[in-house]
Amino acid sequence: MSSEPVTGTEPASEPAPQAALAQQPFESGCDASSPNRNLAPISSGLDAEGRLVVGGCRLSDLARTYGTPLYVLDEATLRSSCRAYRDALAASYPGPSLALYASKANSSLAITALVAQEGLGLDAVSAGELLTALGGGMPPERIVLHGNNKSPEELALAAQAGVTVVLDNWRDIELLSALAPSLAQPVRLMLRFTPGIECHTHEYIRTGHLDSKFGFDPEQLPQVLGHLASCSWARLTGLHAHIGSQIFELQPHHDLAGVMADALAQARGHGHPVSDLNVGGGLGIRYVASDDPPTIQAWVSTVAGALAAACRERGLDLPRLLCEPGRSLVATAGVTVYELGSRKAIPGLRTYLSVDGGMSDNPRPITYQSQYTALLVDRPTAEASETVTVAGKHCESGDVLLPEIALPPATSGDLLAVFATGAYNASMASNYNRIPRPAAVLVHEGQAELVQRREQPEDLLRYDVLPARLTPVI
Ligand code: LLP
Repeated sequence: MSSEPVTGTEPASEPAPQAALAQQPFESGCDASSPNRNLAPISSGLDAEGRLVVGGCRLSDLARTYGTPLYVLDEATLRSSCRAYRDALAASYPGPSLALYASKANSSLAITALVAQEGLGLDAVSAGELLTALGGGMPPERIVLHGNNKSPEELALAAQAGVTVVLDNWRDIELLSALAPSLAQPVRLMLRFTPGIECHTHEYIRTGHLDSKFGFDPEQLPQVLGHLASCSWARLTGLHAHIGSQIFELQPHHDLAGVMADALAQARGHGHPVSDLNVGGGLGIRYVASDDPPTIQAWVSTVAGALAAACRERGLDLPRLLCEPGRSLVATAGVTVYELGSRKAIPGLRTYLSVDGGMSDNPRPITYQSQYTALLVDRPTAEASETVTVAGKHCESGDVLLPEIALPPATSGDLLAVFATGAYNASMASNYNRIPRPAAVLVHEGQAELVQRREQPEDLLRYDVLPARLTPVI
């Protein structure tokens, strides 16, 4: 299906749909080279009737075929953000580099396979994410395992598969040394520490400050580095720090480079062959028109420039630069399609429109007061003459996806597209109220492929066990 792009890049003489969309929050246009600044996937457009199309697929057709709520993932956007990181690293860092996809943002076999094809590595934080990464074809040498409370089983899985383990605390070291006799080779390790850097983001997703559950306190570094030098099973090749998520400032990442270069000098001083510095993720994305994150290129060049300069100043050989973007790789690739159901108009107060999903498929608004942008799937350019509150279907008043949004008058059966839902939606989904999790489809050049089957209500009973004494006697 051909479609007009939802961008401002068409000739100025282009008629109505473009002009009308310019009133929508897409006015910034779709920048394929830094998708984290777009509100919609880069392949978004309108068909001849002005209906929303993503990846060449009409969203209403997808809803009819796969049902709603539906996670739609645009392959072109995901590939383009992977390339933006890869190319920016190659262009702005004089040494070797690798971007690792933080798979907590959205973990699936299909996403792993795409990211692996694009040459990235991956950050996993559990056996589930690790198995997904390995199952999706990510080479183990490009995977790191994080976690502030890894289980012995998770550590064994990682060590046996040849995955790099990011040491977060003394317990990781104890568990790995107990495991060491069963291992054929030393374990590749990174050491995570809290860099003591503050940044402005929601307090739940700040991690760089000293009062954090993640990583070693910097004061402990000499002791840990000394201890690891005496462990024959340990091969410490990297250092890691992550300061937080959905960050729009560049300064904290600039400052982090100096802190990490100091730690690098310290680790090499203890004789460790540290060749990797992993600066974590954190680059923010645009959820609503007023958000103004830096581009991927700007973020990478800040980090790369600061690290190269910090190493030069300290006379250190350049390490390989690793980073771990999650949200900025995958968020704008995702759109969630809902069907509108009930309407409740409270005169003089508010009109609620309810969708067939909510906090179970997108817990971000209720958790972090996150804002989103949405359009009617089949009338995206109609005049948005009504301000409504889009609520979910869960038994909780706080289950509101869009507290205040201007939409064309909409009725039950209309479809709503919520943008930038590719990160921390599917991966944080729950079965609250025993509501099944949505299906996910990958769209590309007019093809849609199911990549996550829709859960069915019966699936939710699969792990329930009814003790015999409670079984109803019929
Ligand atoms: N590396 C580490 C060690 C992390 O903890 C995280 C995110 C990342 C990388 C990726 O950060 P990103 O590039 O995605 O900002 N659920 C929250 C976000 C939590 C982020 C947790 N860690 C949300 O929905 O906003």
